Amino acid sequence: MSQTVPAADVPEGTVTGAGSYALGNNGEYFAVGRKCRHLRADLAGGSIDADGCLVCPWHGAKYDVRSGRMVRGPQGVFAKIPGLGTAFKALTSVLPLARGTVTQQGDNLVVD
Ligand code: FES
Repeated sequence: MSQTVPAADVPEGTVTGAGSYALGNNGEYFAVGRKCRHLRADLAGGSIDADGCLVCPWHGAKYDVRSGRMVRGPQGVFAKIPGLGTAFKALTSVLPLARGTVTQQGDNLVVD
């Protein structure tokens, strides 16, 4: 089911929730599945880094929003576990975050 969000709610550099998607603006609007592949944090509460990637609010895993793949594994204590980051990156090459389409209609964004 499509979700409509006012474009004014998603200024550049921000992320918000739109149904099952994290809807963000890294210069372009994007929508990806909002559950982090690590421990299912809500990526709608994440942030966008200098590379335009979506960063998980819990442990800093970083996602390429075009592919849905994790490009940096969980940080902090998790970064010290051998192979963990590599394993999650491999997982998301098989199971990337879902990607929605974002269409601008007037002052609104429609996410499908
Ligand atoms: S839940 Fe996202 S990095 Fe841990």
